[in-house]
Amino acid sequence: MVRKIILGLTGASGACYAKRLVEVLSPQVDLHLVHSRTAPLVFHEELGLNLSGWLKEQKVTVHGISDFLSPLASGSNRFDGYVVIPCSMKTLSQIAHGVGETLLTRVGDIALKERRKMILVAREAPYSTVHLENMLRISQMGGIIFPASPGFYHDPQTIEDLVDFVVSRVIQLLDLPQELVKPWKS
Ligand SMILES: Cc1cc2nc3c(=O)[nH]c(=O)nc-3n(C[C@H](O)[C@H](O)[C@H](O)COP(=O)(O)O)c2cc1C
Repeated sequence: MVRKIILGLTGASGACYAKRLVEVLSPQVDLHLVHSRTAPLVFHEELGLNLSGWLKEQKVTVHGISDFLSPLASGSNRFDGYVVIPCSMKTLSQIAHGVGETLLTRVGDIALKERRKMILVAREAPYSTVHLENMLRISQMGGIIFPASPGFYHDPQTIEDLVDFVVSRVIQLLDLPQELVKPWKS
C-alpha cells in the first residue's frame, strides 16, 4: 500500500533539506505538504526559488496554512508520518505546547495525540534553554528531534552530499527505502 507522508516546511534555515526530501519522496509516496508563511521567504533567500511555483512542478498535494477544512486537520484521516523540515524554534515550541494555531502545528498536535510518527528536523544554533526544554517535551511525547546537522563520516564531497546525509536518515526513520547514502561499512 502507498504510504501517506505529510511534510511541514517552516521559515528556519535549511530549505535545501525540504527541497531534496520532496524530490526523493514524491515518486514513491502519497505526499502532502503545508508550509508556514515564512517558509517562502527563506526558500527564496536560500535557493533563489519561488516556493509556490516550484511546488506546482512537484507531485505533491499542497494544503493552505489556514485551511482547517483540509483533511489533514482531523485525526480521523490516518497518515504514516509527519516531518517538519526544516523546523523553526517557533514551530517546535508551538507543537511542544499543543498550539494548533495553523494547519502545520495542528498536524503536529494530531501526530502526538494519535501516536503517529513525527520527526522535527530542528534548526537553530546555538540552542537556548527554552529550545532544549521544548525538544525534551517533544521527545518525551514520542516525537523525534532530528538536528539538521549532517555527519562527516561518509566522505562528503559536495553540499549536496551533506544534504543527502540528513535527508537519507529522515527517510530511514520513516521506514522507507533510500539509496542516497549507503549505511556505514556496508
Ligand atoms: C533567512 C532566515 C533564516 C532563519 N533561520 C532560522 C533558523 O535556522 N531557526 C529558527 O528557529 N528561525 C529562523 N529564522 C526565523 C524564523 O523564520 C522566524 O522565527 C519565523 O517566525 C518562524 O515562523 P514559522 O515557524 O511559522 O515558519 C530565520 C529567518 C530568516 C529570514
